[in-house]
Amino acid sequence: MDTLLKVKNIDKYYKGKDGLFQTNKQVGALVDVSLEVNKGEIIALIGESGCGKTTLGKIVTGLVEPTAGEIFYNSKDIAKMTKTERNQFRREVQMVHQDSYAALNPSRTIFDSLKDPMIRHKVVKNKIEARKKLEELFELVGLTPVDQFMKKYPHQLSGGQRQRVLLTRALSVGPKLIIADEPVSMVDVSLRIALLDLMSKMNKEFGISFIYITHDLATARYIVKGGKIGVMYLGKMVELGELEKVLENPRHPYLQALLSAIPAVDIEISRKRRELPLKSVEMPNPANPPQGCRFNPRCIYAEDICEKKEPELVESRGRVIACHLEEKIPKWTY
Ligand SMILES: Nc1ncnc2c1ncn2[C@@H]1O[C@H](COP(=O)(O)OP(=O)(O)OP(=O)(O)O)[C@@H](O)[C@H]1O
Ligand SMILES: [Mg+2]
Repeated sequence: MDTLLKVKNIDKYYKGKDGLFQTNKQVGALVDVSLEVNKGEIIALIGESGCGKTTLGKIVTGLVEPTAGEIFYNSKDIAKMTKTERNQFRREVQMVHQDSYAALNPSRTIFDSLKDPMIRHKVVKNKIEARKKLEELFELVGLTPVDQFMKKYPHQLSGGQRQRVLLTRALSVGPKLIIADEPVSMVDVSLRIALLDLMSKMNKEFGISFIYITHDLATARYIVKGGKIGVMYLGKMVELGELEKVLENPRHPYLQALLSAIPAVDIEISRKRRELPLKSVEMPNPANPPQGCRFNPRCIYAEDICEKKEPELVESRGRVIACHLEEKIPKWTY
């Protein structure tokens, strides 16, 4: 398959907080993260709050500079692109932000907010053309009656409608890759499926690749179908591979813990299932990550080596995984 985006050994360090206090200690929001997205593929990135998902999304779209590492788009290093190539990259790689309210200017109508990127990226020549194109797109994403939605201000819309507006804004400039950052987390449960279906439709009809960022495995599984899942923990990728394969036999103890936290629909399965396999529920401070494997203080399988040596990502069972004990860990059934 054709690679669209390649993220190689990305680090991102921020000046951080230790508890309530600002320190000079660096927070490793991302440490040595690599990822590849193929044309037309959907990848889910999953992990708890603070593990670095949004940071990775912003780096991939060029909104945040990485501390180290490289990003290739269509085999071109984005740090070395010409102005024309960079403009094309900025048009083709779009981010749908986590907070739909903050992502829209509150004092402008939806039409005014959406026409600018289309004109800036020369997708349309003027306001009239922008309106025409947006009318089509609003129909497609289900924001009807179209005229009424264009006149509205962000606060007059529901969370689900604002997410549709953001997806329309991304779609309007002809993207090849959309980074959707928790697009359904602030939306009513009853409307989530419709939004996920909309993204699936954008993927199927226009061949748009997606990086779907979430902390929720159920929606990841729903949307990914045939694509990959990357599991992140405290700034690191801990398991990455084809979703079907990974979830059929999840190997990293952290992923097993995530899966065991999902309530089973079947009461029999729920009874047979082992307890939540975590030693501690607390997430360590990213400014002060544990020595060795970052997951070791919470891991029920941890041995000496896990406290001493940081595990590398290695290929095993058709995926990559960072765990010293991968061979030994029992199969997790859920
Ligand atoms: N601008 C910033 N300055 C300092 N630290 C930051 C900044 N942005 C993120 N961080 C820190 O980097 C780490 C990763 O943050 P990030 O927002 O990427 O996590 P996330 O996985 O998206 O979390 P959530 O699920 O809550 O959205 C966190 O420890 C966060 O506090
Ligand atoms: Mg986030």
